[in-house]
Amino acid sequence: MQRISANMLKIYIIFLLLILIRLCSFNIFNWINNSPQEIIPSNRTLGFDHIYVLHLDYRKDRREIMDKLLSYFNLDVEYFEAVSKYDKILNKFTNANSKLTVGQRACYVSHYLIFQSIIEEGFNNTLILEDDVDFEVNITEIMADIYQNLPEHWDTLHIGHCYEMIGQPVGSSSFPNKLYQSVNPQCTHAYAVSNSGAHKLLKLIDPIKPIGPVDYEISLIINSKKIISYSIHPQPIIQWKENFPSEVSFPTTFQFSLTNSTMNLLGLIDKNQYPGQ
Ligand SMILES: *[C@@H]1O[C@H](CO)[C@@H](O)[C@H](O)[C@H]1NC(C)=O
Ligand SMILES: *[C@@H]1O[C@H](CO)[C@@H](O)[C@H](O)[C@H]1NC(C)=O
Ligand SMILES: *[C@@H]1O[C@H](CO)[C@@H](O)[C@H](O)[C@H]1NC(C)=O
Ligand SMILES: *[C@@H]1O[C@H](CO)[C@@H](O)[C@H](O)[C@H]1NC(C)=O
Repeated sequence: MQRISANMLKIYIIFLLLILIRLCSFNIFNWINNSPQEIIPSNRTLGFDHIYVLHLDYRKDRREIMDKLLSYFNLDVEYFEAVSKYDKILNKFTNANSKLTVGQRACYVSHYLIFQSIIEEGFNNTLILEDDVDFEVNITEIMADIYQNLPEHWDTLHIGHCYEMIGQPVGSSSFPNKLYQSVNPQCTHAYAVSNSGAHKLLKLIDPIKPIGPVDYEISLIINSKKIISYSIHPQPIIQWKENFPSEVSFPTTFQFSLTNSTMNLLGLIDKNQYPGQ
């Protein structure tokens, strides 16, 4: 009798232990599931889902500089083959009445194809860079600070731009690079598009009947309030394209230089001049 009850006790204890383990694991499981979803922005993509670098395959010089910048920041990007002036795909989008140059049409189509790709891949937010940009050395910290102020719903975020006036401030940042409502951002060297933004832009722009260059059209769409857009001033990503902006006269209120250039830090600028200038 005594042996049986001792065995019974053992079984009973093991049974209790099993229940306890089961309860604990269930609780741990539950606790993990219920803990707030911490969204750690991936610094390798500057907090975005994805980075595309629009690149013309024959511009090996630009690719070389871009690769050095990317490896300095340890960034993870996808080079997106830009449509060139010589590309046959442009014929698909030919419009005899277009006032655009062939280069402007190629640029328009390239950005259009990127928006399509964003939808196909299902990216929530994507940074689009052109292959001739320079970054503030602390771009990662700047973007981390911008996310503190960036409203939940946005369609485009203009990190780099040109000839843009400063709009209404958004949020409160104690750092110099702050967020504003977009007014009239031109240029497409560094801007981000959300999934909703890509959907809207694909409906609103038309590479067969362009009204103007793609950046001009996007700024018209922003002005008509059909999309929600924000801009960073001063811009922490600039474009160093040939002859830019030396041939154009512009008011000094527009800023085209960086506080702390990464290309300068890495010795990629000769005699204080950007390549090709
Ligand atoms: C988009 O966001 C959702 C919700 O946060 C997430 O589950 C999904 O993985 C994201 N998509 C990509 C491509 O990162
Ligand atoms: C991303 O960069 C910011 C700013 O440098 C830093 O505070 C944060 O810890 C980094 N996050 C990760 C996941 O590395
Ligand atoms: C980035 O660096 C500049 C100096 O180059 C500094 O003034 C600014 O506060 C820094 N921004 C952030 C967000 O750390
Ligand atoms: C620029 O960045 C470098 C590297 O982080 C730093 O050593 C230097 O002090 C910065 N210069 C200015 C003017 O912020």
